[in-house]
Amino acid sequence: MGEQVRVAVIGAGVISAAHLKGYAANAEKCVVKAVCDRDLGRAEARCAEFGVAEALGDAEAIWARDDIDAVSICLPHDLHEPFVVRAAAAGKQVLCEKPFALSVASLDRMAAACEQAGVICMSAQVLRFRAVFQAARQFIRSGRLGQIHQTWRRRGGITRSLDQNPWIYNYEKGGSLVVHGFGAHEFDILMWLQDTTCDRVYAAGRANNPIWQSVDEVSSIFHLADGSFGNVRQSLNTLDSGWDEYIMAEHGCLRIAGDRFEWQPVEGEKEVHEHPLDPTAGFAGECGEFVAAIQEQREPEASVRQARWVQAVMEAVELSIKRGVPVDLREEFGDFGPITAS
Ligand SMILES: NC(=O)c1ccc[n+]([C@@H]2O[C@H](COP(=O)([O-])OP(=O)(O)OC[C@H]3O[C@@H](n4cnc5c(N)ncnc54)[C@H](O)[C@@H]3O)[C@@H](O)[C@H]2O)c1
Repeated sequence: MGEQVRVAVIGAGVISAAHLKGYAANAEKCVVKAVCDRDLGRAEARCAEFGVAEALGDAEAIWARDDIDAVSICLPHDLHEPFVVRAAAAGKQVLCEKPFALSVASLDRMAAACEQAGVICMSAQVLRFRAVFQAARQFIRSGRLGQIHQTWRRRGGITRSLDQNPWIYNYEKGGSLVVHGFGAHEFDILMWLQDTTCDRVYAAGRANNPIWQSVDEVSSIFHLADGSFGNVRQSLNTLDSGWDEYIMAEHGCLRIAGDRFEWQPVEGEKEVHEHPLDPTAGFAGECGEFVAAIQEQREPEASVRQARWVQAVMEAVELSIKRGVPVDLREEFGDFGPITAS
């Protein structure tokens, strides 16, 4: 492999622009050689926008190329497994959009293919690379909070029309927008911020708006390995958008919202920590971590092994809603490693 990692982006839809910006921000470490989409016009448009040399209409053209080391997979959810497995078989390093898979069994097949091929495999958990979450995590790691008691995360918004890409509404192709689309972020960040994992999940959900073919109201309670419990409330029907987190702990309460986190100790003055929100900076960090892990031949942050936790939580949430009882993650899915590389 040359000094720069040579990347192809597969799928030239909405999120591909963020990956292309992310690689451009790491131009000293990588170069995007091609953008591929079965809609060649989309690939060409992204190439023109980001100065990429080659637009491809079929990913088959990538696999035999020895001038492409790595791929970003920016495809609908049901295509993640076939493309990750194919990329691994061709010896390509893989960054795959979230949710990594639609089931734990699928993630395990993908992880096995990458392990067998000896390629790095990373899940695009972009929130782990946002400045506000990284700073809040450092603050929590410093021990200022003491024992964490309970966490609330909330993600609401009004999403009622068919104004997005059609596959998102198709459960077979996209899974559930709440559980897989947004949950892949919410459940992962809840555990990752606290450096903890999940023992048991109890969830309730309702399917109301038929366009979703799935639940659009979900509340989930997580029994976490650090002795606390977490509560994630998600809705596609709130009249305003709410996206925040409160961590109630022994020494005070931490609140994360937008580009800041606030710490209100039980005794003393409130502290406000501002981390200006650059929406593309998370992707610069994510793509930078991917290429650095390839160059250094190490496990990346948000590796597929770590992503097994959020995959299992997503599946446990759906199982718990269906069964009406809590789901024990290890009983259901076996053993897991730590949730982070560091
Ligand atoms: N991190 C985030 O915040 C975030 C935001 C949006 C989307 N995503 C994720 O990114 C992924 C893609 O989502 P999107 O919104 O960009 O979807 P999209 O529908 O906008 O783009 C998907 C693209 O894949 C192309 N495609 C489909 N089948 C193909 C094939 N066989 N070969 C080549 N190209 C093919 C389509 O033509 C389309 O251009 C999903 O996993 C989604 O959840 C992440």
